[in-house]
Amino acid sequence: MDKVSKSLLIILLVSIGAVVYLNYGNFLGHRQTDNFLKIGLITDVAGYGKEIDGKWEINWKSQGAISRFINRMNKKFKPDVTLELGDFTDGKDKNSIKDWRIMNKQFAKLKMPFYHVLGNHEVRKFTKKDWLDLTGYKKTYYYKDIKNYRLVIVDANFLEDQTDAEPGKSSYPGRINDEEWQWLENTLKDAVNKNKDTIVFMHQPPVNTDLFTNWVVFPQGEKLHKLFSEYKVRAVFSGHIETLCSMQDGPTKYFVLNGAWKENRFLKPEYRFKEGGNFYYVTITPDDINVAMEYRVFKKKTKKNKKRRGERIKGWKKIVVSPDKYNCQDGKDLKYKNASQSVGQNGFKNVEGE
Ligand SMILES: [Fe+2]
Repeated sequence: MDKVSKSLLIILLVSIGAVVYLNYGNFLGHRQTDNFLKIGLITDVAGYGKEIDGKWEINWKSQGAISRFINRMNKKFKPDVTLELGDFTDGKDKNSIKDWRIMNKQFAKLKMPFYHVLGNHEVRKFTKKDWLDLTGYKKTYYYKDIKNYRLVIVDANFLEDQTDAEPGKSSYPGRINDEEWQWLENTLKDAVNKNKDTIVFMHQPPVNTDLFTNWVVFPQGEKLHKLFSEYKVRAVFSGHIETLCSMQDGPTKYFVLNGAWKENRFLKPEYRFKEGGNFYYVTITPDDINVAMEYRVFKKKTKKNKKRRGERIKGWKKIVVSPDKYNCQDGKDLKYKNASQSVGQNGFKNVEGE
């Protein structure tokens, strides 16, 4: 055997050894245990379609994020479960139900379970009953036990008088009615009794951010924090306000996720992620929660490259959502110092917002 062949053989043996060692390491480590949970998240997909050349097409900003999300989840991340956190359709016209069905058909290609959370945009154009018919769910709030975790899906689309938000009666702030509150408390208590860690998903964030003050996005926010703290909820994931931020209160971490493509005009340009295509990789262990956002970057338009923006994708970037950089309360994310004043301290009560 000559020197080159010997070297190649050594490289081959070392590579095989490394692969065997790493897989054995995974097998022994917590990656294969019921304490290690991977979740794929996308929120505020806000899709809407129109007919182009006889074919119904979903707006490219939503479609691009959907296609990439499904591809990455199936081929790369391979999570235990995936969810969309509400405002699945934009709810801008009467085609909302048609758009919902077309998009949901695409998510059916996911090789792992996929669940919906109800957002305020859905109930602008159709009722909760319509949503239950579309999803096949029995209730708009529910839970799923996966591995050692309980995933609790909350419906925060209620009005002050306890009734459902529906077309013509929508609300920007999130609200939970008494019946659901009781269910939520029982569900959290039951998870503690069964020794399960709880993760909550709700469209409207119960978080007092530097963008919206005085719990205007969630009047019951403070009460919810106490409830989540009492039952040691590990994390709460939301969308709705097109802001990327995280914070901790007691044992509970709160993550507010930027939607799939809409930019928040109140934020500094570097925090707007206006290129869109945003979705999330979440890994949870008994000691840690890691959240990373993937987003797209476009090539600049030049004289030579005159393609439309959606066709000029340069690549995709990933950032870790850390409390240091994306703290909900540090004021760094704001373009306007007094943004909460500029939209009105109480301006969003029972009115339609972004
Ligand atoms: Fe929303």
